[in-house]
Amino acid sequence: MAKRSRILGCGSYLPANVVTNRDLEQRVDTSDEWIVQRTGIKSRHIAAEGEMTSDLAVAAAVRALEHAGVDAGSIDCIVLATTTPDNTFPATATKVQAALGTKGFALDIQAVCAGFVYALSIADNFIRAGQATRALVIGAETFSRLLDWNDRTTCVLFGDGAGAVVLDGYEGAGTSNDRGLLSTHLHSDGAHYDLLYVDGGPSSTGMTGHVRMHGQDIFRHAVSKLSAVVEEALTANGLEPSAVDWLVPHQANQRIIDGIARKLKLSSDKVVLTVDRHGNTSAASIPLALCEAVHDGRIKRGDLILMEAIGGGLSWGSALVRW
Ligand code: UT7
Repeated sequence: MAKRSRILGCGSYLPANVVTNRDLEQRVDTSDEWIVQRTGIKSRHIAAEGEMTSDLAVAAAVRALEHAGVDAGSIDCIVLATTTPDNTFPATATKVQAALGTKGFALDIQAVCAGFVYALSIADNFIRAGQATRALVIGAETFSRLLDWNDRTTCVLFGDGAGAVVLDGYEGAGTSNDRGLLSTHLHSDGAHYDLLYVDGGPSSTGMTGHVRMHGQDIFRHAVSKLSAVVEEALTANGLEPSAVDWLVPHQANQRIIDGIARKLKLSSDKVVLTVDRHGNTSAASIPLALCEAVHDGRIKRGDLILMEAIGGGLSWGSALVRW
């Protein structure tokens, strides 16, 4: 027997405003052709003025609770992954807690694009240690607020959104046939801090700042580190790539996703892709993709899902989950 966390349900939310590549052609020296060829992105959702990360997170969480069929009062832990909190402090998760009426404790975690995998891992560990019984794990971002809208190398890449899952503790058999999180694998390497960062913060400039990225370097790290961390997840569970039913990757660039799928010899119909319509929504991208494939019926009970993500830090990780 082994204590496990299974996913009872998921929900997501995207702001109404859709910005296409053609719209961006009016703002910076770019083209729909360049963006699609280099990234696969065609459009992204951008939060309305006054619409905050907590609003997106609450909307996604309400849908996740509904899908899971559980009351907010049964949640005793919220782990919210975000790089774009409403305020520098307190944790945006506490605002979400108040809006939903959940119990226990609530915290934010910061691992940028790897945030959802980190948050899943943290909540799973709370549950397995007995410190929480039922958790809301949320990835929510208003990443558009960090963009320099005059910098074509970054502003075309990102979008806003939120996704959430309800994690529930139970006693599994301790095998890879169990439902829920089979394992999570986290890494970071601060030697690459300057490859992808925001040029501001409370302790440095006192301002929020804008995203700066060395795209090609990040691309190289992404392909090699994500390949290694998906391998690590499969090996830890004694599984072959052929056991994977769905790759639900972080959605930064279709070329990176295709590269990982090729290494795993997974056909493209086993890969959940949203980057074309969402862009890179940082910590929200995996739960947004997961929700889409669960709600349209692609992901079914018993399916094995492989998640992977990398972002600033560098921070990266993977999770193997049986639905
Ligand atoms: O989620 C966090 C992790 N982030 C990532 O995974 C991002 C990883 N990196 C990437 O996805 C890619 O490196 C980018 C999509 C960011 C860039 O693609 P690339 O193929 O690596 O392009 P590049 O940076 O080598 O730029 C090629 C050319 C440059 O022009 P020159 O120097 O060749 O004349 C850029 O100035 O493309 C130019 N360029 C653009 N042109 C039109 C850069 N951005 C744009 C743009 N529109 N938006």
